[in-house]
Amino acid sequence: MTPLDAYVGNAGEFPVLDRWTYMNHAGVSPWPARTRRAVVAHAEQFGLDAFMSHNAEADLADCRALLATLVNAGPDEVAVVKNTSDAISMIASGLDWRPGDRIVVPAAEYPSNLYPWMDARDRHGCELVQVPEVTMPDGTVRTREEDLIAACDHHRTRLLAVSHVQWASGQRLDVDQLGAWCADKGVLFAVDGIQSLGVVPTDVKRSRIDFLMSGGHKWLLAPPGAGLLYCKRELVERVNPPVVGWLSTVNPWRWEEIDFTRRTEAGRFETGTQAYLPIVGLRESLRLLLEVGVDAVNARLRTLGDRLAAGLAERGCAVVTPRDGPAGVGGAVCFTTPRAASDALVKRLREHHRIELAARAGRVRVAPHFYNTEQQVDAVLAAVGEV
Ligand SMILES: Cc1ncc(COP(=O)(O)O)c(C=O)c1O
Repeated sequence: MTPLDAYVGNAGEFPVLDRWTYMNHAGVSPWPARTRRAVVAHAEQFGLDAFMSHNAEADLADCRALLATLVNAGPDEVAVVKNTSDAISMIASGLDWRPGDRIVVPAAEYPSNLYPWMDARDRHGCELVQVPEVTMPDGTVRTREEDLIAACDHHRTRLLAVSHVQWASGQRLDVDQLGAWCADKGVLFAVDGIQSLGVVPTDVKRSRIDFLMSGGHKWLLAPPGAGLLYCKRELVERVNPPVVGWLSTVNPWRWEEIDFTRRTEAGRFETGTQAYLPIVGLRESLRLLLEVGVDAVNARLRTLGDRLAAGLAERGCAVVTPRDGPAGVGGAVCFTTPRAASDALVKRLREHHRIELAARAGRVRVAPHFYNTEQQVDAVLAAVGEV
């Protein structure tokens, strides 16, 4: 039995299994039992001793180190932040934009990965180029890597920002290909990893990623309120976000000595007192995922996703998530059915079958995690087949 097998269908470790067929991990995830225990223990400790028995710096350093391991970064390249939006904004508002700089994004991005770049456009006169999604002959929907590269191929392009996995189509982009092209041309490469981290092996060095941002509350199985900002070591001091605090500086604990010298590692993106409840939860969920192994998680989701995609096609549904090709797969399978609107279908499955999916952009998004069972996948297929 592999470490992963021990969790499949294990309601002791994933109590949600007893109550729901829960396949909305691309939305907000339930917490593993051990994560809940870690958060509760932290709350109890604070009730008894306030901060006296809490080693805040150690908790933060642990979390940073685990995040660094997850994405193959150095701990000095990782800041623990609140969510994806804060992390993207930190970079978008901290770069030294010049009027006419081009920023390229897929048009179908989640708003968190558009608005901060729109803000850079509006404040600094950058040009924002949005690359449309296309429907392929097989019915799948993609933002093509070649279209992104063609849009970037311009002497004023400063930055390409993409989600590793798209929120509403489930497409996994080939970040190795995009990162290599950007590195070759001197274009900065920013990746929103909230739809991929935890289920898609991610290596910032191999993929030549300059900035990687993610909250912890989706596939990382952590409480909302803690996440990652990775910034490549050489770029840390080139980013000067307008938000700062005592913890952004080199001598934060010498309160009496005012010394506004900013840290030179990614910790400069941390501002003040951290949200330790979600951080201890994120730490525990990261330990679990690293024990199981993200490669194994991805292989498991390939198995569950293939079963879903085949079963949906048999029932006359159109699968829009690309599943073949060099980029590999993420965790979600998105589809449409001519027999029901996506929101009505999601509501029906929740109310009649205790199946939790999501309706996004006119599609149904099925997002299982590694602990879901084949029987649960079959239950989803049977319920979809009824309409
Ligand atoms: C691609 C993507 N980015 C960002 C977010 C959310 O970001 P945040 O962590 O700021 O809530 C989501 C989902 O809610 C998402 O799908």
